[in-house]
Amino acid sequence: MSHPDHALWQAGWRANRIDFHQHEVNPSLLRFWPELALAANDRVFVPLCGKSLDLLWLYRQGHPVTGVELSPVAVRAFFRESRLPPKRASRGALVHWAHERMEVFCGDFFQLGASDLVGVKAVYDRASLTALPEELRASYVAHLSAILPADCVILLLTVEDLDDEESESAALEPSEEIQLLYADGFQIELRYAECFPAVIPTGDIVAEPRSVHKVYLIRRGQP
Ligand SMILES: C[S@@+](CC[C@H](N)C(=O)[O-])C[C@H]1O[C@@H](n2cnc3c(N)ncnc32)[C@H](O)[C@@H]1O
Repeated sequence: MSHPDHALWQAGWRANRIDFHQHEVNPSLLRFWPELALAANDRVFVPLCGKSLDLLWLYRQGHPVTGVELSPVAVRAFFRESRLPPKRASRGALVHWAHERMEVFCGDFFQLGASDLVGVKAVYDRASLTALPEELRASYVAHLSAILPADCVILLLTVEDLDDEESESAALEPSEEIQLLYADGFQIELRYAECFPAVIPTGDIVAEPRSVHKVYLIRRGQP
């Protein structure tokens, strides 16, 4: 079912309003990926992937990579800018774009099924939860849990705004929202948390409010 936010994302990509897009590989991916101890040929899933350079980095490590992204503008740009000529085919409600080990399903994440993620050993998730409206976040985690193979590990990168009254030390703890979202059937380990001055869309840095960058390793199993 289409959500009103879909039109906003689609329009944003058409107008090139993509402040979230990073022009280099995410440093936390480079730093924490080795901790997953994957084999080079282990398959990786990247939900809500945009045209992230992280996809290409994972592909260059040897991983088969599967992304899902709503906007065809983003998917086309990813394959063009990565110089990976894609083949396209309809797969139910989704369009499957692929070049050798690199594939992106274009369409709504909630249309993906377990058969699309067979053999996935790890998830690399940057900013998916922030991209979704609050009322969809629990459904996102439930759907992710339903379609992922059981032995899968998740590297989750989040950026949280720090409330004025919140102390820096409290902000460096695992977020309540993440703990609640992944309470059922997952073990959460906060691997990194650091406060940064917030960068406003003009590119200026302001001292307040601060944002907190966090990296979680999430595995199946009860705490
Ligand atoms: C905040 S951006 C993050 C993109 C990417 N993870 C990155 O690091 O650059 C969120 C992306 O999710 C896509 N998106 C939003 N809702 C989606 C949905 N329901 N299914 C698939 N993609 C979605 C948007 O088009 C956007 O490209």
